[in-house]
Amino acid sequence: MHAPIGVFDSGIGGLSILQALRAELPSEDFVYVADSGHAPYGERDPTHVIERARAITYYLREQHHIKALVIACNTATAAAIHLLRQEQPDLPIIGVEPALKPAAQLSKTRRIGVMATQGTLSSAKFQALLESLKDQADFICQPCSGLASAIEAGDADKIQSLSRHYTAALGPNDHVDTLVLGCTHYPFAREVLQDLVGPSVTLLDSGAPVARQTHRVLKAKAVLAPAREPSTLLCSTGEIEPLQVAAHRWLKLDTAVKQLFI
Ligand code: DGL
Repeated sequence: MHAPIGVFDSGIGGLSILQALRAELPSEDFVYVADSGHAPYGERDPTHVIERARAITYYLREQHHIKALVIACNTATAAAIHLLRQEQPDLPIIGVEPALKPAAQLSKTRRIGVMATQGTLSSAKFQALLESLKDQADFICQPCSGLASAIEAGDADKIQSLSRHYTAALGPNDHVDTLVLGCTHYPFAREVLQDLVGPSVTLLDSGAPVARQTHRVLKAKAVLAPAREPSTLLCSTGEIEPLQVAAHRWLKLDTAVKQLFI
């Protein structure tokens, strides 16, 4: 089936998911929306995030006739996926959640750090996930206000100082052996974070599992694209440049970014 897959995030963070999607599904077309004009999501009221998720989904369906939607944002998934699924029952919707389950399987010390936005950590969805795994490991959850915005702005000094502050709050360096990057922006600070926590700590993000899940869903619905040269369209509701720069840097994608007014 030739329709594209819609992907959105509050900004450039979802590119970490898009990267995994393009590797897993090399014949699919993608339309990526960075909602930079209404970011950050993680420090806003969930009703704002729900409204934005609705507006973007409506746009992607009306203008691009997407065959599936990937919410490439932990905060938006936590706030809105249940509502979007109710409202759009015919649209396959795949979300992203912090990789607590893989971390619980991987951790030897059973002490796991979780970095995410305040919105994700305080959501009912995340709290239920945490509760379901509480017998398997100790999770040290750290809200990281400002970190996604610093990554969005490419502010290296701020990324460094906030990362230092938040990883220090997880305890001494030998305290956790696994660190969950529970916001799709954070893989773009992976080197800084790895440096700060040391090489013995395994950093986990959700890109590959989300891409595999998307593959499974499309296959089950028999809507996978046949082998062909695919396209990726990048759109932003805010400044064009951060998305252009990040797409070039991380995905080697040089397509022009389309400005959206939604
Ligand atoms: N990238 C988003 C996430 O995965 C949130 C960043 C933001 O606060 O806007 O949670």
